[in-house]
Amino acid sequence: MNAQSEQPQAAPVALITGAARRVGRAIALRLAKAGFAIAIHYNTSANDAEQTRQDCVACGVDADTIRADLADRPATAALVDAVLTRFGRLDALINNASIFERSTANDLSLSEWDRTLQVNLTAPLQLALGARPALNRTGGCIVNLCDVATARPWPDHLAYIVSKGGLETLTAVLARALAPDVRVVGVAPGVAVWPDAYPADQRAQLVKRIPLQRAGTAEDIAEAVHYLLSASYVTGTVIPVDGGRHRA
Ligand SMILES: NC(=O)c1ccc[n+]([C@@H]2O[C@H](COP(=O)([O-])OP(=O)(O)OC[C@H]3O[C@@H](n4cnc5c(N)ncnc54)[C@H](OP(=O)(O)O)[C@@H]3O)[C@@H](O)[C@H]2O)c1
Repeated sequence: MNAQSEQPQAAPVALITGAARRVGRAIALRLAKAGFAIAIHYNTSANDAEQTRQDCVACGVDADTIRADLADRPATAALVDAVLTRFGRLDALINNASIFERSTANDLSLSEWDRTLQVNLTAPLQLALGARPALNRTGGCIVNLCDVATARPWPDHLAYIVSKGGLETLTAVLARALAPDVRVVGVAPGVAVWPDAYPADQRAQLVKRIPLQRAGTAEDIAEAVHYLLSASYVTGTVIPVDGGRHRA
């Protein structure tokens, strides 16, 4: 993060967790194109975060990078204050950062379970509650990145899928708890960006089951996030962005 503390922004400010790469980066760029100043949170991907920052600035908005390990509760609690110190306001919190690791009923490690639940579920709650006063002032919005797979829960990603089911419920509860000043919504991707090592034949099999007959893109997810930020009568809803897979 740049050392300077700046004048409060005139432009709306979005904090996007895990915004260095993949879906988070696409959301950062989409919101930068819409005129948001962007707080790019990252953990390990410092170089990619800096590239995202430069690409947001090239869209004509202010942007900065802020590091925090969301597995660490005190570091998570400090993140919103760091954003407010740097940008002076907050209009949108996008809980995108996530751990997606294999775990089954046969090999579950409780420490991995705790870490996944902390990053994917507790950190979004901590950030939402920390951001609440600032979002109250701006009539802001929280968008949680969920997963359509909670409807067909995968036994081989046990901790992940439970965390995303919890995040969906958290979205519904917080929408009621934080209304009427703050809206809380979610986007549930199907396939947006493949896991790096996903085999080509399995990709083809999965795409055959998607009514729109293609995998999605990070930009498809970013477009839905942008829509929800402007949808002022929508709260408590999680929109599937999955090519229709949840109906097939
Ligand atoms: N990709 C898909 O097709 C898909 C499908 C369904 C749902 N989703 C959901 O959509 C969101 C974005 O997906 P994605 O595939 O782009 O996510 P991803 O690449 O798996 O993870 C996004 C970022 O999360 C950050 N992160 C992980 N552990 C962290 C920690 N301890 N502290 C802070 N940040 C941490 C990482 O930041 P650093 O790199 O900086 O460490 C990572 O770049 C996720 O919530 C995911 O569950 C995605």
